[in-house]
Amino acid sequence: MSRRSTARAFPLNDPRVVRKVANAMTEPVSMPHNHRQGKCPFRPGPDLVELHRDPSLHRVPVPNSQLGEVGAVLITREDDARAVLSDARYEVGFAFDPNWTGPRSVMNQPGVLLNYDGDEHTRYRRMQSGAFTMKRIRALSGVIEQIVEDHLDAVEKAGPGVDLIKTFAEPLPLIVICELLGAPLEDRSGILERSSIASSVDTTLEVQQDNFAAMTDYMAELVAAHRREPGDNILGDLVRKHGAELSDDELVGMGLDVLVAGHGTLSGMIGLSVLALLSHPEQLAILRDDDSLSGGAVEELLRLLAVAPPLVRQANTDLSVNDQEIRAGEHVVVSTLMANHGAVLSSPADALDLRRKPVPHLAFGYGRHQCVGQQLARLELRLALPALFRRFPDLRLTVPFEDITYRSESLVFGVKSLPVAW
Ligand code: HEM
Repeated sequence: MSRRSTARAFPLNDPRVVRKVANAMTEPVSMPHNHRQGKCPFRPGPDLVELHRDPSLHRVPVPNSQLGEVGAVLITREDDARAVLSDARYEVGFAFDPNWTGPRSVMNQPGVLLNYDGDEHTRYRRMQSGAFTMKRIRALSGVIEQIVEDHLDAVEKAGPGVDLIKTFAEPLPLIVICELLGAPLEDRSGILERSSIASSVDTTLEVQQDNFAAMTDYMAELVAAHRREPGDNILGDLVRKHGAELSDDELVGMGLDVLVAGHGTLSGMIGLSVLALLSHPEQLAILRDDDSLSGGAVEELLRLLAVAPPLVRQANTDLSVNDQEIRAGEHVVVSTLMANHGAVLSSPADALDLRRKPVPHLAFGYGRHQCVGQQLARLELRLALPALFRRFPDLRLTVPFEDITYRSESLVFGVKSLPVAW
């Protein structure tokens, strides 16, 4: 494998990593398991609802940035989803293979939590969640507030008339990631480019492998810097507390978890939440005017928008869902979107209602792989969204809703561009 040795700043213009950019699509065609409705990005599409209503199991293609496409049994009901995600006989979809000799990909990188089951997963997960303590998250609160204010200042200066994705939804979580990893701020455009490619299903395998090599090289440099002098951040904590038992390669995998998982999901949620609130002005007023509702409001947005990548598992023995057989070796994929809407479909809970008593949801998954960064994600959303609408009470779209473009090529759903003025 050819791996670049100098990756402190990502070489964005390297022709080997030029991304095949998807045409901006105005139709919110997300992945089949989380397919959205016609021109509405907030609801499951009719095809998905039909599959949900049909009691028999269906197999759907699941795009995978490394493997192209994998067939998987679609799980859409919330109780089935919870049963699958909490049953250890459904293992992670693409398990780590210690004997792998081919080119490295995220699926065979040591330390990446979603590559492991059982005791190995528990061991890595304890270390990683130990670094995400409430103390550290609370300590980040003031930092995040400042980042939000700085970006709102910059938006105000640049406008009126900005793309809120480029000026707010993307940079905010990126800077938090840099804080978590002790990465220099000037690296953020490279981190954005690399993590977007990692989540894209519209690239060649070669592009993915090259991108992954650059990401691991970059992370290896950060790990080496923390080995020399552990910083006051998550990577520093891991080195201080577990540096003796973890190899550099494992630390690289754990760092990559944060770098990739903690960015696209949050920028997707911020952009889509702003769009949902602008489309429901009475709900927007609730969030802007009553701070005590921000926690419940964020839960409601997480439930409704369900931006997560496919939750894929593989049966390690013959199993059944609703008395229907799933064979050993078969993949299943959970539709978080459908599960979050399913129990309440065609009832008022299908729509956005920020005052609703929180409906339990699967936006962060369920069971042993449930999102390790969820408290941080909630905090960022609770700080960012009300502050945005307080600063710009007259925020409005400058293009018709139907012309909004979506990240249709990404495993994580979101708005591609959000032109606004005030
Ligand atoms: C709104 C933002 C976020 C959403 C919607 C989200 C969603 C999810 C979901 C659904 C899973 C479960 C995957 C599965 O079971 O297959 C997951 C796992 C994970 N998330 Fe998040 N996430 C978010 C933010 C973050 C952040 C900010 C971080 C870290 C900085 C993070 C790190 C992780 C990691 C490391 C895992 C793997 C956990 C394991 O396998 O044990 N996520 N996330």
